[in-house]
Amino acid sequence: MSAHDDTSGQTPLIDGFGRTISYLRLSVTDRCDLRCTYCMSARPTFLPKSEVLTLEELETLCAIFIERGVTKIRITGGEPLVRRDVVKLIEHIGQWRHVTPLRELTLTTNATQLDRYADQLAASGVERINVSLDTLDADHFRRLTRIGEIDTVMRGLDAADKAGLKVKINTVALANGNAREIPDLVAWAHGRGYDLSLIEIMPMGEVDEARPDQFLSLQSVRQTLEERWTLTDVSDSTGGPARYVRVEETGGRLGFISPLTQNFCEGCNRVRLTCTGQLYLCLGQLDRVDLRAALRDGGRLAVERALDEAMQIKPRAHDFAIGTDRVAGHVPRDMAHTGG
Ligand code: GTP
Ligand code: 5AD
Ligand code: SF4
Repeated sequence: MSAHDDTSGQTPLIDGFGRTISYLRLSVTDRCDLRCTYCMSARPTFLPKSEVLTLEELETLCAIFIERGVTKIRITGGEPLVRRDVVKLIEHIGQWRHVTPLRELTLTTNATQLDRYADQLAASGVERINVSLDTLDADHFRRLTRIGEIDTVMRGLDAADKAGLKVKINTVALANGNAREIPDLVAWAHGRGYDLSLIEIMPMGEVDEARPDQFLSLQSVRQTLEERWTLTDVSDSTGGPARYVRVEETGGRLGFISPLTQNFCEGCNRVRLTCTGQLYLCLGQLDRVDLRAALRDGGRLAVERALDEAMQIKPRAHDFAIGTDRVAGHVPRDMAHTGG
């Protein structure tokens, strides 16, 4: 069976809490060309290439997910565009939009390689992308990413605009980093016609800084922004976890992704596949099924069975929480491994 066949007979993915899974986040590599201080240590250990699924295997798994009712696929990493030939995978999956239940194929990227790839992405059916950017200041960007140059990001964004890709900026709110820059980032993004989502730091993986020094509550950020602007709640949804407001003065949309201060697990619609074929059922938990073993040892039927098992063990919620002196719920996996 291929992704082009009629899917009406397929059992949808519904977990033990009655939540329908329609959103697959696919991390195609754990490698990245930046080293953001809140995301990884200065000398990260990346997975050996021998453990990584081929693009053909990833494509096969995506086809099975679509047959089981997934309508949105987001390619993530690490930085997805550092994986060789990933654009071919995107081209192939992009062709399934509209001839299968797949409605959206999109990407979360740091934009450093976008000037090379924006046109190809747009031609492959990608309509919008999320770009991670936490500061507009060149020196701060270099410090925060350890090795990055902001000019490459700006060139990438220009290329995305030219290619007609709709852009949303993702900004992690950092108490010891960009707290004071957030209003400028919002104004800049809205000035360029971009949405912007703020994200609360989550205690994933091993980093060199203390999480409590980084954590900034988005409830307090919202209060600060309200001293300057009028924020009106809107019911818009992109299928992700952000709750949106409209900033009346800029006319732009601002999202709040607040896993620690405003839990959104009740409406969870997603699962995460790593580049080694591990299907993680929650960003903040360890529960997983091994789709690489299923695919290589048992083929499609085994993958189908593993997906059924996955729906039984998907956790209700993460355990991230903010205490007085610590950020609780630490998960040993790096964010770059699971793809956000
Ligand atoms: P849209 O399609 O634009 O709604 O994107 P999205 O928010 O689904 O995807 P994006 O890659 O932009 O995600 C932004 C960040 O939100 C991720 O990197 C995570 O940090 C966080 N996030 C996304 N999904 C979840 C989730 O299920 N649980 C938690 N705790 N955080 C999530
Ligand atoms: N907590 C919250 N967001 C994180 N990201 C990376 N590490 C973390 C973390 N520990 C963000 C990136 C990117 C997205 C994929 O996840 O900045 O926007
Ligand atoms: Fe879903 Fe887990 Fe994210 Fe909650 S933390 S929304 S349960 S993936």
